[in-house]
Amino acid sequence: MSGHSTYVPSKGIMQWLDARLPLPRLMYDSFVAYPVPRNLNYAYTFGGILAIFLVLQILTGVVLAMHYAANSAIAFDSVEKIMRDVNWGWLLRYMHANGASFFFIAVYVHIFRGLYYGSYKAPREVLWILGVIIFLLMMATAFMGYVLPWGQMSFWGATVITNFFTAFPLIGDPIHALLLGGFAVDNATLNRFFSLHYLLPFMIAGVVVLHVWALHVTGQTNPTGVEVKSSKDTVPFTPHATIKDGFAMAVFLIVFAYMVFYLPNYLGHADNYIEANPLKTPAHIVPEWYFLPFYAMLRAITFNIGPIDSKLGGVLVMFGSILVLFFVPWLDTSRIRSTAFRPLYKIFFWILVADCIFLGWLGSQPAEGIYPALALVGTIYYFSHFLILLPVLGLIETPLKLPGSITEAVLAKHGGGGTPSGAAAKAETRG
Ligand code: HEM
Repeated sequence: MSGHSTYVPSKGIMQWLDARLPLPRLMYDSFVAYPVPRNLNYAYTFGGILAIFLVLQILTGVVLAMHYAANSAIAFDSVEKIMRDVNWGWLLRYMHANGASFFFIAVYVHIFRGLYYGSYKAPREVLWILGVIIFLLMMATAFMGYVLPWGQMSFWGATVITNFFTAFPLIGDPIHALLLGGFAVDNATLNRFFSLHYLLPFMIAGVVVLHVWALHVTGQTNPTGVEVKSSKDTVPFTPHATIKDGFAMAVFLIVFAYMVFYLPNYLGHADNYIEANPLKTPAHIVPEWYFLPFYAMLRAITFNIGPIDSKLGGVLVMFGSILVLFFVPWLDTSRIRSTAFRPLYKIFFWILVADCIFLGWLGSQPAEGIYPALALVGTIYYFSHFLILLPVLGLIETPLKLPGSITEAVLAKHGGGGTPSGAAAKAETRG
């Protein structure tokens, strides 16, 4: 797929640059001439949307950092000052806070798209693993970012989550002290979280470069899961993918703008507008919505499992829920890549989606009454999906008949007239 370059530098200066640092050639080969399957749907636009949001978060974050004070005595007030006194400060902050949420919406769609279309299967295992690493880095970044406004939820969220590290025998307490810079969440914690919150997005950007590099080596999958067989199966990235990605980005940004301007605090928690108070615990400590399914799994283990006490059990289950994603390429035994051709697996895929939403809801409920038991059921289902269903279904399922090629699938669906180059394909079939 990476193929050979067709770039011809136009002007003198471009020829000069091409002979020294062929950056325009790299851009042209990657984002203009690059061949993409002609049947990509809107689920494939979320990688581009994620890239935009990464840039947006870095830009708004860098400007916010110019006004923010990472000192526990004045951090809360410095955020209020940003909201009231800094020119456009309210917009920067609301964009950054809601941007984090939209970043996670996009990443969840992106991950589930990958699971649905078998994007993780050979030869794209490294591409997938780099994605899981990005996801972990995103979670660390978001967690530390939420501590910075130094509100009640910042403080208590950080206290609860970092406390779980003490569950590990021997290394638990030293890790806890290292994370916090002391024995409790305090000024030292705020300082190191700010430092890391500033650093990690640039590390994410670095891993994204590797992610897109790996993508350009293997090429994209497509909704049929049938690999590209000839040049007829592809269209150039520009204008086809550029226009489609651009349209999806515009729609996504409009929804984002609606939240920023009309419901800026809808996804946040009211308690975070109260300054952190180590002497007053809020009634319910809840993380941001995007962590809720993991939070539910953490609290689902209310009993000891042999020598593992419930606290350590919860932490292992929570980390395990992400670690299992690393092994998905090897857990899936199916010969068929796309779920569209796996009628049985399709049902279980949607049950997994429902299970994750259910766990998310449970994570927002107090850990009492029936909720931990329901969370346990949801957690067992989550792990069963990856550890039992994925390997077993691949062996026993009878898939639907695959199309011979991407072009064949497109022509069967649209009769040759429904895709950007459909008219050309129609002409070709007519001979
Ligand atoms: C900052 C976060 C991320 C960015 C900017 C990003 C960017 C991209 C882009 C631009 C593409 C190609 C377009 C598309 O297929 O949507 C892509 C594809 C892909 N991404 Fe990501 N990604 C991110 C996070 C992730 C995560 C968290 C995972 C998985 C855990 C992941 C897994 C994949 C896979 C497997 C593909 C190949 C899709 C296919 O061809 O079927 N990515 N990514």
